[in-house]
Amino acid sequence: MQQCLVIGDPIAQSLSPLLHNKAYELLGLQDQFSFTAEQVTKEQLPSFMQKIRNTNVRGLSCTVPHKEAVIPLLDELDETAKVIGAVNTIVQENGKLKGYNTDWQGIVEPLKKVIDLKGKRVVVVGAGGGARGAVYGLLREGAIVTIVNRTKEKAQILAGDFSVVVSEWPKIVPEIMDIIINATSVGMDPNRDESAVPSEFILPRHIAFDIVYNPLETRFLQDAKKKSATIIHGTEMLLIQAAEQFRLYTGREMPVEEIRPMLISRLLSSK
Ligand code: ATR
Repeated sequence: MQQCLVIGDPIAQSLSPLLHNKAYELLGLQDQFSFTAEQVTKEQLPSFMQKIRNTNVRGLSCTVPHKEAVIPLLDELDETAKVIGAVNTIVQENGKLKGYNTDWQGIVEPLKKVIDLKGKRVVVVGAGGGARGAVYGLLREGAIVTIVNRTKEKAQILAGDFSVVVSEWPKIVPEIMDIIINATSVGMDPNRDESAVPSEFILPRHIAFDIVYNPLETRFLQDAKKKSATIIHGTEMLLIQAAEQFRLYTGREMPVEEIRPMLISRLLSSK
């Protein structure tokens, strides 16, 4: 039996075990793989990483607050994860731990289903790990990125790393923007009334994409819907980043189309 895990702090609300275990079941892999969640604090991370070496742990998904801190504890880093500066996926092979980033695909793939990103103007709100993945993926597709973040210094570091511009809401001209992405945790349960995007900046021509998936329809997406903008739920990012992890851990394709309705009904029933 090969073990996969998601670690973070907090971790109780993670939906990764649900997605991966359902996929094992659908593909008949449940006797070969199992997926659990484990709470690991910042302080525990180095000893935890040591503990899993040369065990049956095949895959390790990392979430807040470990995506950057785990990097020096690995043996190898995939080139893309190196550029992004964050790891959400670790694969163990012959006792060696290699880090990857699949978050950026979770941003880019859902957008590509509705728009060709080349030359499109995108406002990325946030400057944390999620935003870094978003900026990397968008630039790779030829989009033009502007960063808006509560803490300007943090935005400037990200902008410097990727050669993009920093702005603030009063200076954003919504008429020339095509896409707005919330890459902050604002609006996440239990702060359902908050949005990092002032609604007056949302126009019908925009695509609004939220990386927050709980609640399914955040305040930002509700505002965008009211403005007749196109919306993309955070569940799309969750599914795609998980599907890329699944491929790295098992070598198989996650049956995303079958898992999506289960994920959505789970989020709606936990309202
Ligand atoms: P992650 O790695 O998951 O993206 P993070 O590094 O903590 O998490 O980044 C969280 C992002 O959400 C940051 O851009 C943060 O803004 P600051 O750089 O100003 O901290 C943003 N964020 C979190 N709470 C916020 C709030 N209440 N209002 C505005 N931005 C917020």
